[in-house]
Amino acid sequence: MQLLNSWYAVALASAVSSDTPHPVQLHGVQLALWRLDDGSVVAAHDRCPHKGASLSAGKVTPKGLACGYHGWCFGADGACVAIPANAADGTIPHRARVRTLPCRESCGLVWVWWDRNPEAPTELDALPSLPDVGPLPSNDDSGWRILEGSVHWQANWLRVLEAFMDLTHAPFVHSGSFGAMAPDQLMPEEQWARDDSVYERVLAPRDRHYRADQGRGLRAWFNLGQDGEADQASDAGVQHIQLWLANVSLVRVVFGDFRISLMTAHVPVSPGVTLNLWRHYRSFLRTPLADSNARGRVDRFMAEDQRMVETLTPLVPDLDGRADLLLGSDVSTLSLRKILRSKRSEGLLV
Ligand code: FES
Ligand SMILES: [Fe+2]
Repeated sequence: MQLLNSWYAVALASAVSSDTPHPVQLHGVQLALWRLDDGSVVAAHDRCPHKGASLSAGKVTPKGLACGYHGWCFGADGACVAIPANAADGTIPHRARVRTLPCRESCGLVWVWWDRNPEAPTELDALPSLPDVGPLPSNDDSGWRILEGSVHWQANWLRVLEAFMDLTHAPFVHSGSFGAMAPDQLMPEEQWARDDSVYERVLAPRDRHYRADQGRGLRAWFNLGQDGEADQASDAGVQHIQLWLANVSLVRVVFGDFRISLMTAHVPVSPGVTLNLWRHYRSFLRTPLADSNARGRVDRFMAEDQRMVETLTPLVPDLDGRADLLLGSDVSTLSLRKILRSKRSEGLLV
């Protein structure tokens, strides 16, 4: 299923450079991203109109994106600006152009507009603004350390979105990492759905059987003692979990003064493949020396989710609820499916 007329985050901004084009795939369509000298990003269909080469196999030049096969060169509007073999003739046919997509950069991500009509030339100014993802620290905020990564899952993107809105799986799926929470106390204190966004706030009390020496949770990471600041880490923290359609989630965990956030773009590569692009923010242990530990923790809990989410059937969730049995404790999944059903009735989920 595709959500139409929506912004999708499709790449980490740090992966898009002004020398090598960056390939991405969205709903089975191959795209090439590249960066102009002024820093803006261009997104175009990744097929050269000459003989069909992947433009992402070319290179970015001062004139534009040059195809690696015969050097045809395309400007930011997708029009061909140079055909080297025809230099003497000099004419460039109107059909020598690639289709571009409206493209923006925000929150360390590159976003493209996925229109109901893929032929529609769409002016950026005429489009809705990007989802207001946050709160997030800026890249140059010295109070935070930011890490990035990516992982492909063999799962449908809607199942993945739902997994990131679903804290009640944590005590089971993440019992080996951060999931030391009481499984029967994870109902949200606050929950809402509006403006293509779903939010919940959960006070996740520590599992009463949890012991600080279990080697999991924040206390183990800090090697915290029993007094002072350590008390702030003695429960599993307050969790703020929010999703913005089409495909970005943000989990913010607050343990007193210690904060960890994980923003993830769940890119629908194809019906059965989702690319998770993540940015991890921590307000403590900001030294780069702690990065490998932090990365290992993100990789581990992502792998814990992946192992379970890849087993879900049917592949695409049944929005009408006939295949799954959702209860009150699935409140955010229910909210998301309600929004998606209304999109479907407007012809925007196909
Ligand atoms: S296929 Fe791209 S220039 Fe020939
Ligand atoms: Fe999870």
